[in-house]
Parts: sequence; C-alpha cells; structure tokens
Amino acid sequence: MIGHYFGGWPADDAATERFARNLPFERVHAAFDGEAIVGGAGAFPFQLTVPGGPLACAGVTVVGVLPTHRRRGILNALMREQLDDVRRRGEPIAALWASEEGIYRRYGYGMAALGAEMTLPRGHHALRPPADGDTTVRLVSLQDAKELLPPIYDRVRLRTAGMYERSATWWESRQLDDPPDRREDGAAKNVAVVEHGGRPAAYALYRVVSKWEAAANVGHVRVIEAMGDDGAELELWRYLLGVDWISTFRADHLPVDHPLVHALVNPRRAVLRLYDTLFVRLVDVGAALSARSYAGEEPLVLEVADTFLPGNAGRWRIAGGVAGRTDDEADLALDVNEVGSLYLGGFGASELVRAGLVRELREGAAARADVLFATPRKPWCPEIF
Ligand SMILES: CC(C)(COP(=O)(O)OP(=O)(O)OC[C@H]1O[C@@H](n2cnc3c(N)ncnc32)[C@H](O)[C@@H]1OP(=O)(O)O)[C@@H](O)C(=O)NCCC(=O)NCCS
Repeated sequence: MIGHYFGGWPADDAATERFARNLPFERVHAAFDGEAIVGGAGAFPFQLTVPGGPLACAGVTVVGVLPTHRRRGILNALMREQLDDVRRRGEPIAALWASEEGIYRRYGYGMAALGAEMTLPRGHHALRPPADGDTTVRLVSLQDAKELLPPIYDRVRLRTAGMYERSATWWESRQLDDPPDRREDGAAKNVAVVEHGGRPAAYALYRVVSKWEAAANVGHVRVIEAMGDDGAELELWRYLLGVDWISTFRADHLPVDHPLVHALVNPRRAVLRLYDTLFVRLVDVGAALSARSYAGEEPLVLEVADTFLPGNAGRWRIAGGVAGRTDDEADLALDVNEVGSLYLGGFGASELVRAGLVRELREGAAARADVLFATPRKPWCPEIF
C-alpha cells in the first residue's frame, strides 16, 4: 500500500522486505476503509543528536493516503494518532523530511535544518589548503565498508545535531546495498576511505556516471554521502574532486556550513542550491527543551502556542538548562513550529522575528535567544528517511 500511495515504488517482495527490516511493525499506523488499508504513517525509533547529545525521536516516514481517499481528513487522523503514540512512548520530539513542505506546519512541525545540493564543473575544483601528507585514500568493498564506515559516521553523528544512529541492518539495507535496478545509469556504488595517521578518518559513497558525447566526456561523479573527522574530510573531497573523465561533480544533502565553501579556490563556481531538509516537532515541549544543552545562562521565557497538541501551550522558562512552566512575563511569543526551528540551532530567533514568525515581547529578547540556542555547527541530516 505504501508503494502505491507513493506512486511507483517497486512493490516486489525484496524491496518490501528491505524496507520493513528497519521499521518496527508496531510503529506503523494504518487507516482502514472496512478491511482495506487506504493510508498510513510510520515512525523509526531514532536516537537523534540534538545540541548536547542523542535524544529519543520519532523519525516520521512513509506518510500517505490512497488517491481514492484523499481530502477526507485521513491524514489529520493519522497525524493525531501518531503524535499521541509518540508522546505515550516518551519520545520528546518527532522529525521528518517532507515530500511536500507545505503539509506539516498544521501538525506543529517547523523547518529545523537546511541542506545544500552542489554542482561543480570539473576544472574549478582546486582546493586552497595544501594536501595533508599524512593521509592516504583507499577504495574498499561494500563488504569491508560494514566495519570501516560506522565508527567514522558515529564520530560525526555525535557532534552534529540532526543526525541519527544507524543500526547494522540500516547500513546493510540502505547505504551499503546497491541493487542494480537502483543504480543511476548503471553506475555501481564506490566506497573511498581516507586514513589519517593509518586510522580510518573519513569516507565517501559515490558513483562515477560515465557518458560521452562527440568523443567528449559529459559524465559526472555523484557523491551520495561523504563525511569524516575535521581535516580528513577535506582530504576526502580533494580525492573526490580529483576523479578523472567526468565533467561535473554533484552532491546532494551537504551541510550548509561545509568547509568546501572556504577551501575551494573558486567557490562561486560551485552552484549551491539550498532547501529545507529536517523538520522538527516538539511533542513534549518541557521534556524536549530540557533535553538539549544551551550556550548561555541567562533565563528566557517563551510564550508557546500549539493548536494541534494544546497540552504544550503556555509559558515556558528556560534556566540552567531546564525548561519549566512559569507565570513570569514572556520574552518571545511563538508557535511550537518555530520552537522546532530554533531547537537544533539551525535558525536564530532574530531571523525568525524578521520573518514575522516570532514576536519579541521584550527588547533584546531575540538577541538573548540567539545566544542561548546557538551551536558551533549547523544541524545536518545527510539522508532522507
Ligand atoms: C498529502 C496527503 C497525505 C494528504 O492526505 P489527505 O488524507 O488527503 O489529507 P487530509 O484530508 O487529512 O487533509 C489534511 C490537511 O492537509 C491539507 N493538505 C492535503 N494535501 C495537501 C498538500 N498536498 N499540500 C498542502 N496541504 C495539503 C488539507 O487541506 C488539510 O488541511 P486542513 O486540515 O487545514 O483543512 C495525500 O494527498 C498523499 O498521500 N499524497 C501523496 C504522498 C505524500 O505527499 N505524502 C506526504 C509526504 S511525506
């Protein structure tokens, strides 16, 4: 049914089995018309990094309603059931990638992170800092990658808000799976690992899509996922941008504060398209605000509106890293969506005030909130789920 409402997923047993391995049956809601399933919504039980460390989070996925049953309130009913269930399970937040970004605001989700898609023509790929002589690159098999990649990913994940823990099954059935029918123009997945001082420190999953026109190469390198320790990450990109016999480098879902922007000798040749990636919904505002760390000590009072989960509405005081109900005068008034936008550090209160989405009730309050919610890195979610 999920394959049907997403219009054209391969619904064969192998694809269904691969997908189901990561999504616990009890985390899928279905809408019924009599005996027939006509819609559904799932949630991966994630540990999502928020500022300060990992937090239980419902990773909302495969939401849809059959074309025969749309516009009758089925999505509303599914979202209500799902968020109630998430709250009962004690997950303070939910997160999702929206196939259509206009749908989820009414359920309290707010845009929490941006991503960048990069297109860079070959010939403008020089990097400014000299190469680190202590690094080497080797190509490894998807089999060997099962051991080598997860520790690198975990180091990046734990320092980056917006990333979630991956099980061995997740790695096997998603990143390290390469069924021929899902290859771009038949190009197989490659895995490159950068070693720094003899230790695996960065990796890339990528395809080399080879094409020729009038004897000239018009192919591209598609970077699926690339990350690593600081320093080693740049050496990884030096390797990727050195792949020959192609005309363009393409990468999706890069972090918006990627060091490449500074390292490229000609950064303007890299065409970066920004787009919304992760949306966050604070399901339990008090628990969620208390679960993240803050970059300041000064207390802040938020007047939060939440029409879909009214139990969250009211005045919340953040002080000493803990959020509690208060009768104190509020500093900022905002919908729960905007608390989601602030939550991972992707956006500041001041920019949301300028966008007309947050009201400053006391002078200087937005600047104080900017400091409080600030994080050293922008949130990043490298994978659609
Ligand atoms: C989007 C989809 C889930 C809506 O399901 P539905 O049962 O028709 O939705 P409902 O009747 O419950 O409507 C819920 C609300 O969303 C609004 N809505 C529905 N589809 C929308 C869309 N494509 N864009 C923006 N708003 C939409 C409705 O107007 C309604 O708003 P209201 O409650 O404020 O009046 C369904 O059309 C679908 O499955 N589409 C294809 C798959 C998809 O896009 N999935 C979601 C992305 S992960």
